[in-house]
Amino acid sequence: MASIASLAPVISTSFIVFGQPATVVCSFRKVGQAWFGLKPQRGVHLCKSTHKVTVITSDGPHEFQCPDDKAIHSEAGKNKIFLGGGCLKGNCYGCAGQITNGGEVHQPKAVKLNDEQKDKHWVLTCVAYPRSDVVIDTTKQVPV
Ligand code: FES
Repeated sequence: MASIASLAPVISTSFIVFGQPATVVCSFRKVGQAWFGLKPQRGVHLCKSTHKVTVITSDGPHEFQCPDDKAIHSEAGKNKIFLGGGCLKGNCYGCAGQITNGGEVHQPKAVKLNDEQKDKHWVLTCVAYPRSDVVIDTTKQVPV
């Protein structure tokens, strides 16, 4: 039997935050978590947002908007920007790049990168999700 929480309707809207487009998706269940301090469920975002991603390729810089629940590599592909790749699972360096603006990504499945590489802001774009506006230089090779 489904719980009432799992049947909660979803409200979706878009708006402008400080001059940048953002998308917010909330459900009544998530609002209850935020307002009443209920424990969030694993993997649940209270709100989604979209960030400006700039990727530098051999063709120059390319900008696009990327929701924080979409991999940078796949969103780049939708914008006809090819970032290379092979496995698309975080197991090679085929789609790698380096963050150059201090931006942040979430990449828990980037198993090919060691802690030192992550500390030096290397990213595997196929399993990287933006957490801020970010600039990624894909013209460099990951030092191994
Ligand atoms: S394509 Fe292999 S790590 Fe991204």
